[in-house]
Amino acid sequence: MSVESYADDERAVVERVLRERRTVHDFRPEAVPESLVERALELARWAPNHHRTEPWRFYLLGPRARAAIAELNAGLVAARQGERAAEIKLKRWQAVPGWLVMTSSASVDALREQEDYAACCCAAQNFMLALWSAGVGVKWTTGAVVREAGFADIVGLDPLAERVVGLFWYGWPAGPLTEQQRRPLDACLVRRA
Ligand SMILES: Cc1cc2nc3c(=O)[nH]c(=O)nc-3n(C[C@H](O)[C@H](O)[C@H](O)COP(=O)(O)O)c2cc1C
Repeated sequence: MSVESYADDERAVVERVLRERRTVHDFRPEAVPESLVERALELARWAPNHHRTEPWRFYLLGPRARAAIAELNAGLVAARQGERAAEIKLKRWQAVPGWLVMTSSASVDALREQEDYAACCCAAQNFMLALWSAGVGVKWTTGAVVREAGFADIVGLDPLAERVVGLFWYGWPAGPLTEQQRRPLDACLVRRA
């Protein structure tokens, strides 16, 4: 294999998808075809990963697991903000059409675990960009619910062997996207002689 410069129009597409992807908070109710999601996961696996550990695992959640997580979260919200807030949150979560949990391998070696998590974050971006290019939006969440013991049970993940990278909601965007800005490049670019 060799590296060749992509054609200008191909590079423009890559730039567009990198720049225009936005976190989506509100979804239309229709389910995203599983073939699209599988394709995005297949692409996610091409992320860089040190020592080629391929540390990711993807859990695609069906209706029972989704409902159980939404209930678990509503319990947390009720304790913090009361029943009314919990009810609203429950309805909102129940309406999310696509649910994926990504985990990263845990390790007794702290550096290995950090690098594996970094690789999974790259995989997450691949996943989000692949879906975005098909018009599907994603929200990556790391809310309190993912750290609840009950969460691991519902998903069926092994909390001793896996770290939760995130819960990823996906679907066709409903309504306008949240405007985003980034600081100028100069704010984070340091040149050294
Ligand atoms: C590790 C990680 C965790 C995140 N968790 C949440 C979350 O719990 N709730 C939320 O609303 N957004 C969450 N986000 C999305 C960020 O809020 C979002 O990426 C940020 O506002 C920038 O917007 P953009 O994705 O549209 O560029 C998370 C993003 C990352 C990378």
